[in-house]
Amino acid sequence: MPWDPAQYLRFGGYRTRPAIDLLARVPLAAPRTVYDLGCGPGNATRLLRERWPAAHVTGVDASEEMLTRARASRPDVDWVLADIASWRPPRPADVVFSNAALHWLGDHARLFPALAAQVAPGGVLAVQMPDGFHDPWHTLMHEAVRESPYREKLEPLLLVDPVGPPSFYFDLLSPHMRDVDVWTTIYLHVLEGGDPIMEWTKGSALKPLLDALPESERAPFESRYAELVRAAYPRRADGTTLFPFQRLFIVAVR
Ligand SMILES: C[S@@+](CC[C@H](N)C(=O)[O-])C[C@H]1O[C@@H](n2cnc3c(N)ncnc32)[C@H](O)[C@@H]1O
Repeated sequence: MPWDPAQYLRFGGYRTRPAIDLLARVPLAAPRTVYDLGCGPGNATRLLRERWPAAHVTGVDASEEMLTRARASRPDVDWVLADIASWRPPRPADVVFSNAALHWLGDHARLFPALAAQVAPGGVLAVQMPDGFHDPWHTLMHEAVRESPYREKLEPLLLVDPVGPPSFYFDLLSPHMRDVDVWTTIYLHVLEGGDPIMEWTKGSALKPLLDALPESERAPFESRYAELVRAAYPRRADGTTLFPFQRLFIVAVR
């Protein structure tokens, strides 16, 4: 799907924070080969580059818009346009890292063992994915779609349960990895401005829905979703909106 790096990075601080927390748990001093899968505009890849200056760092993404932004930010990284589902590193890597991308790919029961196979012995698979797909910001997107005259067109574009429970990933990875650590964290984002949750999702899950609608239908759909999320996450007296957001983390050592 086409991405809008500027809209995505409007909340860049909050979106990069889990990458910082994930990277802090990777127990490697000097990996030689590091891949960032679904690197987007390179906001997390920059952290990998800075932590391991001697490593060969590669960012992989399927979006040309995101990679254009990434290339401009770091010429000292290799940027590769590819689909994670079929892409493979030339040889097993020391670090396979992915922040906020793998929930866009289906069939995790196949994907995660395939990712484990891309990690060299002693290397690390480190993954973070949003995990709040039963929270109002997402269920209300489904509700807005159900109400829409374009329901049939939009429904197949909705993410449905893309992320499993922690034990699912533990069971998938344990046969391949010698140490598997899985945890979840709820971040409490303090957002400012009008309709900040609608603006947040416009940089991610809402975007494919808006793109699929005729131009004239985008604003009405956007306002209906904004109205629904405003009621679920009311703006506070000080003008801020609290947005609890759950994320699932995996650090697995081969
Ligand atoms: C939400 S952004 C995450 C960006 C960045 N990793 C970060 O830490 O903020 C998700 C990225 O995953 C990429 N992506 C989604 N599915 C993909 C696939 N099958 N193959 C490659 N990239 C994919 C998108 O193009 C997008 O740039």
